[in-house]
Amino acid sequence: MIKNLKNVSHILFGRGCFDQLEEILIEKRQGRDSFILFLVDDVFIESPLRERMPLKPQDLLLWVNVADEPKTAYVDELTQKAKGFTGHVPEAVIGMGGGSTMDIAKAVSLMLTNPGSSADYQGWDLVKNPAVYHVGIPTLSGTGAEVSRTAVLNGPQKKLGINSNYTVFDQILLDPELTSGVPEQQRFYTGMDCYIHCVESLHGTCLNAFAKPYGEKALGLCRSVFLDGGQDSYDNMMMASYFGGMSIAHSQVGICHALSYGLSYVLGIHHGIGNCMAFNCLGDYYPESVREFRLMVEKNEIIVPHNLLEDIDEDAFERMIDIALVLEPLWEHALGAGWKTIMTRERIKELYASM
Ligand SMILES: NC(=O)c1ccc[n+]([C@@H]2O[C@H](COP(=O)([O-])OP(=O)(O)OC[C@H]3O[C@@H](n4cnc5c(N)ncnc54)[C@H](O)[C@@H]3O)[C@@H](O)[C@H]2O)c1
Ligand SMILES: [Fe+2]
Repeated sequence: MIKNLKNVSHILFGRGCFDQLEEILIEKRQGRDSFILFLVDDVFIESPLRERMPLKPQDLLLWVNVADEPKTAYVDELTQKAKGFTGHVPEAVIGMGGGSTMDIAKAVSLMLTNPGSSADYQGWDLVKNPAVYHVGIPTLSGTGAEVSRTAVLNGPQKKLGINSNYTVFDQILLDPELTSGVPEQQRFYTGMDCYIHCVESLHGTCLNAFAKPYGEKALGLCRSVFLDGGQDSYDNMMMASYFGGMSIAHSQVGICHALSYGLSYVLGIHHGIGNCMAFNCLGDYYPESVREFRLMVEKNEIIVPHNLLEDIDEDAFERMIDIALVLEPLWEHALGAGWKTIMTRERIKELYASM
């Protein structure tokens, strides 16, 4: 079956467009009991951006902490707070931050209208009811979470997204100015998430004529940002993230992402850093891209962590391999239908050990 994908229906792009959020929300503020839930990365607690948020006295602002990658328990906790606020469901959920905060906002908007725990919906197309209207506002570019149909969560048993058409944002607001305060290292790691999305999308069996130009364009934008730099690099990175997300939506990610999920679930290593650690060791699979990646690392004076896995025990290795192997569609995309004979547990362990 060919995928019939849902896209974000409204996209606002441009420097300063954040100030149009108030206008976008007017039609959601009609009812007497209506309120809007703002889920905002707590990095902005002291920022001037706080004054520019179109908050009304009846709204609920919850600061989101992303020191750890999003967990299902945290999503459930935020959902309970929102449900208990007035006894009604909010008219809209606004998620403002990097990939972690956007994923939390997507998941909370789903859990406000679906029973149980968010862990029950980790997988593909398990969500029954449409989400509350939700808006994504990235403040860090690269993950493509603003455009994807998944909300990636660490649950009791696995790191896996809530993948569904209802997960997709109804509106996104892409304002490159919001990303200007990101520390350089973080900007690089999340930017490389996008670079790796494109490389993996473009190298595998799911690639098609729809995903290819998006991936190629995003790859070119990443090169311009991390090899040439320049004035427009915040704008370019924001569009690379979007195009990269569009490319994987119609294709798939690959080996690096499967390995990186194991790193983050078992060792708590953040996605962007884990991707860089894994990609650095994948010269056998993506040789030219790994060479180019190393050039970007050098040019941006980044030190990719190495030997972090030196002292981990057998049990941790086994759990990382288990998590990586859950992601069957990624392996099949990267290595073809016979991937199980190529990517054995021993080979995955070798790759982890080389990091
Ligand atoms: N849904 C998807 O399609 C998708 C795709 C890829 C990755 N992800 C997920 O995204 C998460 C990673 O997201 P990320 O790399 O964007 O990082 P992040 O959201 O975890 O944020 C990283 C750090 O940057 C800070 N930050 C964010 N915006 C800032 C700003 N403007 N100024 C200063 N600091 C800022 C945050 O506070 C945090 O400390 C992972 O959990 C990963 O699993 C999701
Ligand atoms: Fe990613």
